[in-house]
Amino acid sequence: MDKFLIRGGKKLKGEIKISGAKNASLALMPATLLASGKYELYNTPNLKDVNTMIKLLSSMGVTFERNNTTLSVNTFRVNKFEAPYEHVKKMRASIYVLGPLISRYGKAKVSLPGGCAWGPRPVNLHIEAIKKLGAKIEIDRGYIIAKAKKLKGAKIVFDIQSVGATGNTLMAAVLAKGSTKIENAATEPEITNLIEMLISMGAKINGIGTTILEIEGVEELHPTSIKTIPDRIEAGTMLIAGAMCGGKITITNCEPKHITSVLLKLKEAGAKIKISGSSVTISAPKIIKPVDVTTEVYPGFPTDMQAQWISLMSLAKGNSKIIDTIYYDRFSHVPELQRLGANINLIENIASVTGSKKLTSAKVMSTDLRASAALILAALAAKGVTEVFRIYHLDRGYEEIEKKLRSAGADISRVASEEY
Ligand code: UD1
Repeated sequence: MDKFLIRGGKKLKGEIKISGAKNASLALMPATLLASGKYELYNTPNLKDVNTMIKLLSSMGVTFERNNTTLSVNTFRVNKFEAPYEHVKKMRASIYVLGPLISRYGKAKVSLPGGCAWGPRPVNLHIEAIKKLGAKIEIDRGYIIAKAKKLKGAKIVFDIQSVGATGNTLMAAVLAKGSTKIENAATEPEITNLIEMLISMGAKINGIGTTILEIEGVEELHPTSIKTIPDRIEAGTMLIAGAMCGGKITITNCEPKHITSVLLKLKEAGAKIKISGSSVTISAPKIIKPVDVTTEVYPGFPTDMQAQWISLMSLAKGNSKIIDTIYYDRFSHVPELQRLGANINLIENIASVTGSKKLTSAKVMSTDLRASAALILAALAAKGVTEVFRIYHLDRGYEEIEKKLRSAGADISRVASEEY
């Protein structure tokens, strides 16, 4: 197993190119099940989660070819309609195959994702919505078994705005008979990217970017080519690296309007931000000001940036409160950040942080994707050499993070480790 060795305290300087968005790719790839043929998915990041989705779809008969960031997909020979436990347990987003399989093929067998490091993450909204569209669903020994002759449009009102349930319902409704209305839909950019893809395949969808989506089912869709949006969480993570390490970095190939909430908070923390087209330059503040954050659905501050914000606040001059309203238990980074000297008091979903003048190196362990990112950030700013174990979590969602950070002057290397 690999670990990172990070010698903290280096100022960052230079440009970092942002990859395509993991969470968009994980929705666009299963959407190819909706019509037979050849697709090109541009700006697809090369990540462990994307490769897990490739393996899952390959097990159904889909074939892939990668040329740099273009993923060519061929869905002519889909002959299996199952997402087995071995894939779903690795990646919850595997549930995205449920909607397209049931609407296109009238059957789907998808393993339930089970528990998660962030506490319970149910899929009840996905199941209820697909049922509303007329599918018969039973849960049998850990599997969702769905059947339908032809889905029928329906009105679906979500209690909670859910990215995954909105994506799945959209992919089911586009081929249903009649019209579907989704109320309280998620408006995350990854969903907008999916809607753009579906529309370019011939789907009829109104309300793009809003919480009310109206879909008029069509008989058939056709393959398409689409560009994956830039990864707004990678962008936010790199900007926080810039803020924590002094110096000045520019992130390129990003979509600044997708990270407005993060940019506003970074400005409040004292960073200077300059936007130019698809680039954002951050000049680190001399003194990091404490800034409270409450995670919200888009366009609010993303839960996927909560851990990284706690790292930044660990170096602020004063006290801040970080509240996660989306995932109450998503704080496994807190005890690890404390090893680096961060002063954090966690009560339920509220982290109260008292900034320290400096963090110091330690051995720490990655526990999930964004928690790992938070540790890397803290280690980049900490005095001494930090060892970060179990970095396979990080490889799920950050493409070549160490190379990108090194190109901006960070001292970070990946080495094999017996200890993990
Ligand atoms: C997606 C993202 C994840 C991000 C999250 C919230 C992907 C692959 N992952 O996850 O990185 O942190 O959005 O922005 O895109 N919920 C239910 N029942 C359901 C579904 C969700 O109660 O059936 C709850 C969840 O527990 C959570 C909230 O709804 O509290 C939002 O979750 P959701 O938007 O569905 O997250 P994901 O799509 O799983």
